[in-house]
Formats: sequence, structure tokens, C-alpha cells
Amino acid sequence: MSRKNQTLGEFIIENQSSFKYTSGELSRLINSIRLAAKVVNHEVNKAGLVDIIGAAGDTNVQGEDQQKLDVYANTKFIQTMTKRNIVCGIASEEEDDFISINSQDENHQNKYVVLIDPLDGSSNIDVNVSVGTIFSIYRRVTPVGTPVTIDDFLQKGNQQVAAGYIIYGTSTMIVYTTGDGVNGFTLNPAIGTFYLSHPDMQFPKDGKIYSVNEGNYIHFPQGIKNYIKYCQMEEGDRPYTSRYIGSLVSDFHRNMIKGGIYMYPKSSKNSNGKLRLLYECNPMAFLAEQANGKASDGFNRIMDIEPTELHQRVPFICGSKNMVEKAEEFMKKA
Ligand code: AHG
Ligand code: MN
Ligand code: MN
Repeated sequence: MSRKNQTLGEFIIENQSSFKYTSGELSRLINSIRLAAKVVNHEVNKAGLVDIIGAAGDTNVQGEDQQKLDVYANTKFIQTMTKRNIVCGIASEEEDDFISINSQDENHQNKYVVLIDPLDGSSNIDVNVSVGTIFSIYRRVTPVGTPVTIDDFLQKGNQQVAAGYIIYGTSTMIVYTTGDGVNGFTLNPAIGTFYLSHPDMQFPKDGKIYSVNEGNYIHFPQGIKNYIKYCQMEEGDRPYTSRYIGSLVSDFHRNMIKGGIYMYPKSSKNSNGKLRLLYECNPMAFLAEQANGKASDGFNRIMDIEPTELHQRVPFICGSKNMVEKAEEFMKKA
């Protein structure tokens, strides 16, 4: 039985047997993410002290400026998972193509691929605002022992075996699911140990927070505009309050605890919105559903979308179930 104050290490061992494929491989993988999280956390924490902030000069495949910490986090997560020899492939928001990991050990039977947004909310780094890391884990669909292919990565979100995020906030936390609810662990930085602090996290069914970049309002579809006006209307428990950090991880985390909805709709500028299906939306959708919430593109369940490319974007509406359903209702009516 999980209990508060249990360490993440203990929790992983204790829950390993309840996972349907019990080879221990997934546990080792989560352990390596835990390790990389601590290393990246250390670096994020001193971002204000050392000259690591600022653009590294590169732009990523999405055409956005890469901050130095993006590069650092990307390298650390990839290195940790590669060196420990526990995954067969990695795809990252910061890499053009997926990475196939050819183990030195020819008997290697690694079954999992990881998709990662190494540093989410990176525009917040140099202003000392919370950022995060998002990960998504699948079993490969091609035969073990052979190099991975694109098919191993272009799986629907409903095939995920685990997903989670790390939030580098006022405290650093790992929040993850293996399909059996959502648990949150807080880092004690003095001793470098994560403790179970938020067992069985749940989205309240209703909420009073809406999170959307309203600066884009005029470019939003009519259904979203109408829903935003509904949120602002004085009636019943409304008007709702608006909160937008600009880090998906942080906005999601707050809304899961307090009740709320996050929206990154399509707009007349971005026909599919901004967020990436594989690195951001699917893992957050899996967490949302496991926590009794909901994730939609306005019409369809996020996790049922058939991916066609690695860096695909998709409109994203996610959070408390009743709020997401209300927003969908407005989308359908418009
Ligand atoms: P990333 O830093 O990985 O590129 O992701 C940023 C994402 C997401 O975290 C955030 O909610 C959203 O972009 C903010 O976008 P706007 O600045 O357009 O609101
Ligand atoms: Mn991101
Ligand atoms: Mn990112």
C-alpha cells in the first residue's frame, strides 16, 4: 500500500508487481528519469546565478529560440536513458528526428520508447518562473532487438504505458501515472530524495480557473471566444478567475489541484494550435484522464488521435471534466 512520506524509490519497487508487464524494465526507466530530474533540477535552480540563461543561438525544429537550459535538459535526459541502456528509442521536442539506441549488448531486449519535452515553458527560465519536463512512454511495436522505426513513436496516446512531468517550481515534484491513478512526489533538496506527497491526485469535477493566452483572443475560433465569455459572465459560480503562467506543466499542475481548464486552441495564426501532440498533449491527456479529468481537441479525445508526424501540433483543451465538456459544447454549437 502506498503511503505518504514513502520515497519514490520505495514506491516504484512496491508498485512494480501491480504493473501488468513485470520485467522491472519500466521501473528502471522511471528510476532513470528520477535521476535526470535531480540533475536538471540542480541546474534549473542555479539558472539565476550562473551565466547559463539566454538563447543558445540555435532554433529548434519548431523554429523557436532554444534557451541554454533546453539544450542542457535535452542532453541530460537523453544521456541518462541511453547510458543506462534501458530504452530502445527516444524522441525529443528538441531533436529533428528520433534517436535509435543500439545497445552494445546484442542480447538487449529493451521494449520501451520515450518521448520527451525536456524543458517546457522555457520562455519562463530567465524570469524565475516555474518550468517543467514532460515524458511519455510506449512499448515498441516493432520486434525487440531490431532498430526502432517511426512506427514505434507514432502511436496513439491511448497506447501509453506511463506518462508524467517534473515541475521545477517552489518545490520540485515528479507527478506520473502508469495507468493506475496519478501520484505526486516532492523533492527534499537537502538529501536529494523524492517523497510521496500527493497520493492519488484528482481533478475536481468542476473548477473556477480558466487558463488561456487571451492575447490571442481575436484569432480564436468562435466556440472558444463564446466559452471565454461564458467564463467571464456573472451567473451562478461565475465569473471564473483567469490564471495563465505560460508553462503548460505549471498551469496543468495548478488546475489539477484547484480545479480548472487549460486551453491552447487553434487560431487564425496557427491552424493546429501550438502544443505538440506527442511530447505535450498525449502525456498530459493520460495524466488528466487518470486523475478523473478530460483532454480534448475541442471535438475528439486527444488520446484517440492518430499521429502522422513526430512534431505534430494539435489544439488542446484539458482539465476538470465538466469544464472541458462545457467548452466542447460551445465548440459544437459555434
Ligand atoms: P516549450 O517551452 O516546450 O516550447 O512549451 C511552451 C508551451 C507551453 O508550455 C505553454 O503553455 C505555451 O507554450 C505558451 O505559449 P504562449 O506563449 O503562446 O501562450
Ligand atoms: Mn513545451
Ligand atoms: Mn520544450
